[in-house]
Amino acid sequence: MARIDEVADGIYRISTLETETEFQFNQFLIDDERPALVHTGMFPMYEDVRGAVAEVLDPASLAYVVCPHFEADECGGMGRFVAEAPEAVLACGEVGALLNLTQWDYAGPVQGFRDGEVVDLGEHKLRFLETPHVHHWDSMMVFEETTSSLFPADLYIQPGDQPPVVRENLGEVMCGFYKEVGIFAAEEPVRRVVNRIEKLDPHWVHPMHGGSLPRDVIPDYTRALKDEAFAFDGKVFGRTIPG
Ligand SMILES: [Fe+2]
Ligand SMILES: [Fe+2]
Repeated sequence: MARIDEVADGIYRISTLETETEFQFNQFLIDDERPALVHTGMFPMYEDVRGAVAEVLDPASLAYVVCPHFEADECGGMGRFVAEAPEAVLACGEVGALLNLTQWDYAGPVQGFRDGEVVDLGEHKLRFLETPHVHHWDSMMVFEETTSSLFPADLYIQPGDQPPVVRENLGEVMCGFYKEVGIFAAEEPVRRVVNRIEKLDPHWVHPMHGGSLPRDVIPDYTRALKDEAFAFDGKVFGRTIPG
């Protein structure tokens, strides 16, 4: 069952814990004149996530469904969310639109954004950041300017059952987890983005796994990403692949 909590002004974290793996899947709802849902969760989670959205607003009023990269936990529910909301557009990076979302079994509206483009939701403004190879070619993130909130998808995550807001330094745990599951091919493209995030100095980071991080703890995670090894080291989901 999904739980929903307001973590920043008008920004709701919808979170589901997968009990076998003790891993959380989050979506973020931005309540505004033109509401946005940032990632949808996997296809089977749709009813639960939709129910949580409906606690705040009518799911048919969604204007944007943001897909940071093409993967089931980021966009598995996209078709049904967009089908229910007549004004909704699937918003992704231009590379994602080109490679995946206009040439796939998805017939709904899609808009690909370039770095720096801004979508006006009303009170909130979503700026798109192209972040290739974090951890997919089509990767992008969104930055909400009014609350200074970054939605980094799979960066800044924490494994385990985490509260809506995390103040603990789990930076090393995060890097160890990344290495074990083999999510990033290399450190360099990630650190390029981490340096950018450091300059951006967001007040909030809202990862899609774990809790949201307030400004004072973000540097602990940034430091770990700059100093610790976390790239693929022969293992995928803890399983060693023959070299
Ligand atoms: Fe991902
Ligand atoms: Fe993810």
